[in-house]
Amino acid sequence: MHKVKIGVLVSGGGTNLQSVLDACEKGEVSAEVVLVVSNRREAYALERAKKMGIRNEYVDPSKFPGEEYDKELMRIFREEGVKLVVLAGYLRVLSPGFIEEFRNRIINIHPSLIPDFCGKGYYGERVHKAVLKSGVKKTGATVHIVDEGTDTGPILLQESVPVLKDDTVETLQRRVLAVEHKILVKAVGECCLRLVNENNGGNDEACTD
Ligand code: GRF
Repeated sequence: MHKVKIGVLVSGGGTNLQSVLDACEKGEVSAEVVLVVSNRREAYALERAKKMGIRNEYVDPSKFPGEEYDKELMRIFREEGVKLVVLAGYLRVLSPGFIEEFRNRIINIHPSLIPDFCGKGYYGERVHKAVLKSGVKKTGATVHIVDEGTDTGPILLQESVPVLKDDTVETLQRRVLAVEHKILVKAVGECCLRLVNENNGGNDEACTD
């Protein structure tokens, strides 16, 4: 079966990336990760790609200022024929040019139930700190299409988890992360089926309805 070429943008440890790599390896999704790119040289996610023989690039922000950065990303992504872009803990804002190049084919995993606890300044542990401070009894994770806003594109999948009274940021983050891995792989699988359908002359031209 045709495999959709995926490019993954990362900034951190890469456990979400790893869940996608494992799913591809096991044939759970009709996809292959052909490229992993980070804006941070020390991102362990790059090491995860390297171990699996996947092209992994650190693109140095100091060498590509402003719009040049995403132009370099687009150059590399075109080089590898990437059809689906996955943001897995990527902490840079994408340029309008990049979003247009991959319109409706960029997905992001966010560690809350959007539209709660998202937008500017809500990333990583900050999300879970805000959830605990608010006193809500449930949170979760969301996979959404990336548009020009921050965490504002169409929602593809969500799953909730309970917030327990003795939760710390670490215990809550761990519970949410397990759900992130699950729904990210599910969303990648669904997007790839749509893109394969498009490739076979179907009428799906994106990851969203
Ligand atoms: C995750 O919490 C994800 O929701 C957020 O950044 C973190 C990345 O974790 N976007 P990892 O690098 O995938 O382990």
